[in-house]
Amino acid sequence: METSAPDKGPVLQAALLTGDATAEDIETVRLRTSVYVYEAPVRIWHWINALAILVLIISGYFIGAPPPSMQIAEATEQFVFGYIRFAHFAAGMVLTVGFFGRIYWAFAGNHHARQMFVLPLTNRHWWREVLFELRWYLFLEPAPKKYVGHNPLAQIAMFFFMTLGISFMIVTGWALYAEGAGQGSLPDSIFGWVLGLVQNSQRLHTLHHLGMWAIVIFMIIHIYAAIREDIMSRQSMVSTMISGHRTFKDDRAD
Ligand code: HEM
Ligand code: HEM
Repeated sequence: METSAPDKGPVLQAALLTGDATAEDIETVRLRTSVYVYEAPVRIWHWINALAILVLIISGYFIGAPPPSMQIAEATEQFVFGYIRFAHFAAGMVLTVGFFGRIYWAFAGNHHARQMFVLPLTNRHWWREVLFELRWYLFLEPAPKKYVGHNPLAQIAMFFFMTLGISFMIVTGWALYAEGAGQGSLPDSIFGWVLGLVQNSQRLHTLHHLGMWAIVIFMIIHIYAAIREDIMSRQSMVSTMISGHRTFKDDRAD
């Protein structure tokens, strides 16, 4: 059995000698390649952001539809809604600081760190790939293609639902917070104008609330797509957001 790859020299020697690697394993090693895509700050941000959003959705939902806490105890003896709001504001602050950190990394990080912020709208090849991916997701294409960073359809979803979506939630969330913090407070001096723009607090609550549902829809599709593509595409997915490395399962050109 040939155990050396032309450009890699002998491969899996230790695993071969212990009986761990088979001939097919050796062949697979020859075909696989990987690219380092997501640097540590992007990966750390991804998971902190996902966690913060999960807390924001659960606590935010309860702010919009309060649980009947008077059945637990007298008002003076419990603080249920206080804890819910505390969780929401704490996670909101983590989300805000994290997002500013992520914007910084779009400038300081590698090429792929910018993908979420800029869409190459004038590139017609990119649009063709958007259409291709749409067809692939709808099971209308027989075989997937390879991409290094986000595929173009994922990139569009991330730009609208996350880059713009998170910005919208931060602006409307802090504008709501400014109402509680009071006139002349720091949140009020930065975000107070938003309340003036939308004219009343109820409308601001409704806009912030609708933003949540947009993010919930993104989350459901995003997690489905990440796991589906991990299985069906020709490249790694979930582990890429853990290790940063995108592994291609074969050495076909594209
Ligand atoms: C179990 C949960 C999750 C898994 C397995 C997961 C997995 C992934 C994977 C694999 C990528 C890279 C996709 C690619 O290479 O094109 C990614 C990117 C991303 N995910 Fe998630 N994700 C999860 C939860 C979330 C949640 C809850 C959010 C926010 C609502 C989120 C927001 C994002 C964003 C914004 C990116 C782009 C990252 C960047 O370019 O900086 N993810 N996710
Ligand atoms: C993904 C991010 C977020 C989600 C999904 C979310 C969700 C929600 C929801 C559903 C509500 C209830 C609205 C209603 O029906 O009245 C709410 C209220 C609120 N959110 Fe957020 N939110 C997010 C980010 C933020 C941020 C960044 C802040 C800033 C600190 C914030 C501050 C607030 C405030 C002050 C309220 C009103 C609390 C009250 O009236 O007691 N939110 N949020």
